[in-house]
Amino acid sequence: PYPLYAELRRTPVLHEEDDDPYVISSYWDIESLLHDPRISSDATNLTAAGADELNQAENTGLPPSFIRLDPPEHDRLRRIANSAFGPPHKPRRIDGMRGELHGIVAGLIDGLASGTEIDLVDQFAYPFPVTVICRLLGVPREDEPRFRSWVDPVVASLDPETRQGADPDFVRKAQEARTQLGMYLAGLVEERIKDPRDDMLSDLAAGKGPDGAMTMMEVLSTAVLLLIAGHETTVNLITNGMLTLLRHPEYLQRLREEPELAVNIVEELLRYEPPVQLLPQRTCITDIEVRGVPIPKGSRIWLMLAAGNRDPERFKDPERFDPDRDDLQHLGFGSGIHACFGAPLARLEAQIALAELARRLENPRLVADPPPYRPNAVLRGPRHLPVAVDGVL
Ligand code: HEM
Repeated sequence: PYPLYAELRRTPVLHEEDDDPYVISSYWDIESLLHDPRISSDATNLTAAGADELNQAENTGLPPSFIRLDPPEHDRLRRIANSAFGPPHKPRRIDGMRGELHGIVAGLIDGLASGTEIDLVDQFAYPFPVTVICRLLGVPREDEPRFRSWVDPVVASLDPETRQGADPDFVRKAQEARTQLGMYLAGLVEERIKDPRDDMLSDLAAGKGPDGAMTMMEVLSTAVLLLIAGHETTVNLITNGMLTLLRHPEYLQRLREEPELAVNIVEELLRYEPPVQLLPQRTCITDIEVRGVPIPKGSRIWLMLAAGNRDPERFKDPERFDPDRDDLQHLGFGSGIHACFGAPLARLEAQIALAELARRLENPRLVADPPPYRPNAVLRGPRHLPVAVDGVL
């Protein structure tokens, strides 16, 4: 898509026909609109067509989670979630999870040892984040397999590829899984209200801060939001990351020698191959003007994060993967009030995963370049990433 983005940036505010979205592709415009209170994330402001699309994708039967709300409701729910998780500059809960993340990664890499060709999506990147979110929420270990058997069809049903022409059997199974997942989480929240533990569900339900507690329905939509927002995004950061490193073997080698380079590598990946390529669900709630182009109230706005990340007005040599850049900025986690809530966790997961894969895979080689991708314009990542190895340390 990157040559297409370069083409798009020539018309930084692109609007083709009446109901089409206004497509914004330069770094500074995106950054400024993400801080503009006239731009809403509330799905009820979407036109009928946009809302229908969103419903099909996110039909959870729960009230909207804070990613789809504006202030003041967004801020109240995000503050309660922050007090349960630790705000971005003080990610208390995940600091304590470092050892656990290492353990999960080590277990998954041990499981790769039998083969000479591995699929880094199915065998590694896909199972990792869902296990992490189970631990974060406080799903008991013995329930993890059951929990995953519901999450998998729910996540798959969000994928446009599976949704298009999906057979009725799959649609029914995904709906059933959604109901089971909701019932299971509701039961778990009730247990945690009676008998709190040191986990996120207990803290969300107890609400220790000045904003009080979330209602049961709010806890459930927040838990589902964490699951969905934290899953495929992290899978794609890890797989886009390994793919990029295999294409730039000098960095793979350096990462082997200096594991702390993972911090810069992950930051540069969020610019160079961001898992979330665009934010297609914003609406403007009053008439606005961007670069002299009038945008009438009610218009849909697409913010092309991945195009902004390669904007030559912002980055020197933007098409180059360069973890040694002085300024490792990007729009990979969005910006403003909705900036990624899980960013510290996502960073840590990807840093540990990439450093450990670099250290333990012997002579990894891409089997197919490019690998097969998921046909999804919003979430970019390979569907499979077959890699040949001489062994696993
Ligand atoms: C929001 C990206 C991982 C939870 C966002 C947004 C982006 C993003 C671009 C902004 C959405 C918007 O403005 O509409 C990513 C990427 C990830 C990742 C690239 C992985 C590499 C995670 C994880 C979690 C998470 C692991 C949870 C554990 C959230 C939540 C929001 C959010 C709750 C909504 C924040 C709000 O509306 O205030 N993420 N995310 N994300 N992300 Fe992430």
